[in-house]
Amino acid sequence: MAIAALLLLFSTCWNTCLGQSATSSANAATYANPILNAVGADPWVIRYEDYYYLTYTTNDNITILRSSELTDWNNADVKLAFTPPENESYSYDLWAPELHNINGLWYIIFTGDVDPDQPSPEQDMYCDFNCPAVNHRMFVLESSSSDPWTSTYAVKSELDTYDQFAIDGTYFNHSTGLYHVYSCWESAYVSWPSMLCISRMSDPWTVSSPLSERAIISRPDQPWEKTPYNRTINVRLSSNEGPEQLNNPKTGQQFIIYSAARSDNRNYCLGQLELTGQDPLSPASWTKYTTGCVFYQNPDEEVYGVGHASFTTSPDGTEEWIVYHGMHDYLEGWSARTIRTQKFTWNADGTPNFPRPGIGPFPVPSGQEGTGGGSGTSGSASAGSSGSSTASSTVTASVTGSTSVYLEPWGSSGSYASWETTWH
Ligand SMILES: *[C@@H]1O[C@H](CO)[C@@H](O)[C@H](O)[C@H]1NC(C)=O
Ligand SMILES: *[C@@H]1O[C@H](CO)[C@@H](O)[C@H](O)[C@H]1NC(C)=O
Ligand SMILES: *[C@@H]1O[C@H](CO)[C@@H](O)[C@H](O)[C@H]1NC(C)=O
Ligand SMILES: *[C@@H]1O[C@H](CO)[C@@H](O)[C@H](O)[C@H]1NC(C)=O
Repeated sequence: MAIAALLLLFSTCWNTCLGQSATSSANAATYANPILNAVGADPWVIRYEDYYYLTYTTNDNITILRSSELTDWNNADVKLAFTPPENESYSYDLWAPELHNINGLWYIIFTGDVDPDQPSPEQDMYCDFNCPAVNHRMFVLESSSSDPWTSTYAVKSELDTYDQFAIDGTYFNHSTGLYHVYSCWESAYVSWPSMLCISRMSDPWTVSSPLSERAIISRPDQPWEKTPYNRTINVRLSSNEGPEQLNNPKTGQQFIIYSAARSDNRNYCLGQLELTGQDPLSPASWTKYTTGCVFYQNPDEEVYGVGHASFTTSPDGTEEWIVYHGMHDYLEGWSARTIRTQKFTWNADGTPNFPRPGIGPFPVPSGQEGTGGGSGTSGSASAGSSGSSTASSTVTASVTGSTSVYLEPWGSSGSYASWETTWH
């Protein structure tokens, strides 16, 4: 409550004085972040024919937005793709949906839960400490047709995660087949930290690996994957989540860009794995970029907690764009997140060269100017919620309780120069 009161003081001017609620208008040459004037996290964008499709965590349902402009979702078309029925293993906490076009149909892969982060005491007692998130699992919806917008979506399956915690699942498409990559725990009741796991799939709705074949390809074992940097106690405040495949179209290099540290505070950032071996199921095939985050907070522009990215291209296909969530009022935690986008390029060694996260104004994507706005025929996009992409009220309380102690070293811009040198 003390934190909430403090926030009122800070947020009064910041939201309006620093342009973080700016909108871009149709046919503009520039845009500003965020690109949707609503709380939103875990954005996933795909370009198909003449439109971009955006989905993100709305917690109670799965909503798809459609726009001809990557940089303005306030005038987008809105479609309710799925509302879960009661009493199912996916009735609560619908997080991090992704819309994939595979073999002519559309698959929405998403996280769901049988309870609103409130397992029964009979289940919770198996955990070393509280584990409210213990029942998060992965599910797949299938479209009724080849059109993502006019289709209806129905539950196809639960993805086998061996009856263990699973969130933020995605597909990894490799020459040897399709894989499920998701955020996992070491075992069923261990609770945090979370890691990245991979298993083989026989089709977009079926995991074929037995548990013995499931591999852990990344753990939050680097200082910058903990929050604050280098934390040595309470490793629950470390995570690897939000994995996304990113291929370099010129070199063929295959990456997984994932989110590290902790999603409710300013230290959340993106890390990078590259598939440098032949077998995606072998942890030795993956090389982590250990120098630091590849995309991280930018106090100079008051952008914090950047993560859970997805990737798309400009309308003319000449530019690569990252879509991510970030925070302005970072003391508000998960409810501070909004959706943003920026152009990125490639380094000489073929790795992605992400920009510093910022507000803009930035030039619009190549081919967007003059294409007109979203058709805006079905109302405005306002489906926001504070859907959290990890954990629970219990864990939140423990983070909040330690905020003043552990975040203090990075609490002033004066300490930021050394922080940046250390990280990157
Ligand atoms: C859900 O389960 C509760 C408790 O068993 C039951 O009372 C309720 O009718 C169920 N609702 C539906 C829609 O099945
Ligand atoms: C995987 O990538 C190949 C090559 O781009 C493509 O032909 C195939 O459709 C993709 N498979 C899936 C399941 O996305
Ligand atoms: C991180 O922790 C290790 C072990 O305590 C220590 O040696 C190192 O100096 C720390 N690094 C930073 C940047 O704090
Ligand atoms: C989806 O759920 C969110 C959060 O409850 C709600 O604000 C929104 O109106 C819902 N969307 C639709 C299209 O019903």
